[in-house]
Amino acid sequence: MSLRHFLQLNDLSREELDHVFARTGWIKERFKRYERYWPLQDRTLVMIFEKASTRTRLSFEAGMQQLGGTAIYLNTRDSQLGRGEPVEDAAEVISRMSDLVMIRTYEQAIIERFAAHSRVPVINGLTNEYHPCQILADIYTFIEHRGPIQGRTVAWIGDSNNVCNTWLQAAEVFGFKVHVSTPPGYEVEPERAGLHGTAHFEEFADPMDAARGADLVTTDVWTSMGFEAENEQRLKAFADWQVDGDMMKAARPDALFMHCLPAHRGEEVAAEVIDGPHSVVWDEAENRLHVQKALMEFLLLGRVNA
Ligand code: CP
Ligand code: NVA
Repeated sequence: MSLRHFLQLNDLSREELDHVFARTGWIKERFKRYERYWPLQDRTLVMIFEKASTRTRLSFEAGMQQLGGTAIYLNTRDSQLGRGEPVEDAAEVISRMSDLVMIRTYEQAIIERFAAHSRVPVINGLTNEYHPCQILADIYTFIEHRGPIQGRTVAWIGDSNNVCNTWLQAAEVFGFKVHVSTPPGYEVEPERAGLHGTAHFEEFADPMDAARGADLVTTDVWTSMGFEAENEQRLKAFADWQVDGDMMKAARPDALFMHCLPAHRGEEVAAEVIDGPHSVVWDEAENRLHVQKALMEFLLLGRVNA
């Protein structure tokens, strides 16, 4: 199979993503039955973290082990990456010693430069611009609970950040609509989001209007990693963009609530919502493990058919 990377959600076609979801179900079912599935025996994943993580690290490390392989964790504090070694040189070296690389970093350009010099597939574990593994898990979770996402409406409330941009890309790929409501000054930048147009999203000044009739309401922290200096200003700007019980009432009665986590109860989401009956956040977090196992299988072995 030719070298493939997963730097943005739309690096895989709709048909390939559907394949990954089918494999996710197959892998998850066997994992739940404690059936050994070791297709990646003797393969090594290198995980490079320039930002903090709980779920991404754990799901990739556990996932690789569960597929029979090994995962190695590197961060910028203890490696030469934090001391100015060029990304291109790091990519040349790391990709000669491993089979697969996952990177969490700042600008998307960094991961693109790494991938351009890598001999092995590179996976985006979050950049300032995108979080494609998260949205794989989110869409898989939606499908598990409610069936196909095509034709549905997703309400995004809050910051037009990496997770929002990836939802917008996903809407183009899967054919659904995103209702976005951000405070003034924090609007979606279609070019930065890597969109082909604006047909799949609509912006609303009032978050209640964005939530109205939605099949899924989702949000994320007001201040993403790397933007901490703006925290105080953002707390003020986003104060009216909290997903609360009233907002969930405006959505469809069977609407789901998702959050990539970590969450701040009382800021972007009220406790009654994230801990309430609409919320599927724990399934969403767990599915990171299962979808990423299917993604790693696809990138390393191509189309495996059960
Ligand atoms: N949702 C997510 O990526 O979580 P972590 O930052 O803990 O990896
Ligand atoms: N938007 C958040 C997501 C964390 C998983 C951030 O980038 O910090």
